[in-house]
Amino acid sequence: MSGSENTPVSDLSTAPDRADDETGRHAIAAEILGETRATRIRLGSLESERANRVWWDADTEDYHRTHGEFLGVDTPEGEFVWCPEGLHEADVQLLGPVAGRDVLELGCGSAPCTRWLAGQGARAVGLDISAGMLQRGLAAMAASGRTVPLVQAGAENLPFADASFDIVCSAFGAVPFVADSGRVMREVARVLRPGGRWVFSVNHPMRWIFPDDPGEHGLIAMFPYFDRTPYVEVDPAGRPTYAEHHRTVGDRVRELVAAGLEVYDIVEPEWPDHLDREWGQWSPLRGSVFPGTAIFCSRKPR
Ligand SMILES: C[S@@+](CC[C@H](N)C(=O)[O-])C[C@H]1O[C@@H](n2cnc3c(N)ncnc32)[C@H](O)[C@@H]1O
Repeated sequence: MSGSENTPVSDLSTAPDRADDETGRHAIAAEILGETRATRIRLGSLESERANRVWWDADTEDYHRTHGEFLGVDTPEGEFVWCPEGLHEADVQLLGPVAGRDVLELGCGSAPCTRWLAGQGARAVGLDISAGMLQRGLAAMAASGRTVPLVQAGAENLPFADASFDIVCSAFGAVPFVADSGRVMREVARVLRPGGRWVFSVNHPMRWIFPDDPGEHGLIAMFPYFDRTPYVEVDPAGRPTYAEHHRTVGDRVRELVAAGLEVYDIVEPEWPDHLDREWGQWSPLRGSVFPGTAIFCSRKPR
């Protein structure tokens, strides 16, 4: 079974950074949203968008207090970190050459990646559903002096003309949170130019089967890989305040192919020896046994 309404959040969740409520990492969100409970219920696109806007607005400050430095949010240049395993785009170049290219980042948050891309010579645009996250990006830009255009919108309805971008990318932004990720793939295919790349990182789908716990408990398989019922948190009135949608590896590949894109790699970053930092359910312990992140690399045929 995939969990019941009485299952504690830390037992049910597979979402990034959700296992550390008891350490106070989401203290401000908890104050704003009240006592929430975790459940598994079907949720459509609009409800998921609303829930995640509510969550990321509420968690902006805590998220940046906990992860801002690792992500390079307040560095003058910005930084492009793909995942809690600390993979930097500067080292792996999954996007290929970006200088002079039109690049769109989905779920950019406070936009350290978009700013980094601009610093590499890209014409970079960041898009996110959360005004709170984007405002944090504006503050970082004001301090650093490097500005990039930011757009508030949902990834299922991209407010851009066909064939506007050479590259679209996302580092744990948007894709795990939308109800209709197939639609995101079609939207990306639409706004990409022929030959353009679409590269995105998400929780590795196999993580869905484990409790969201960086310790030993998080090594025990408990939930069915094939259960796509979303993980949802609801407030005392029953309103969703967070939603995460699971897809299997096969689902993700099929959605990309159905959108007319070619999948040419799925990168599964290994946990690096030097990294002893935890990020929610990501930890050196779990990282030494199985992957935490999958980065899907695809392109639009010429
Ligand atoms: C884990 S954060 C990642 C942010 C950024 N990429 C980073 O590495 O810090 C997820 C981001 O996805 C955004 N997001 C969630 N649902 C979205 C949607 N439907 N459309 C666009 N952005 C969304 C959230 O607002 C949040 O900023």
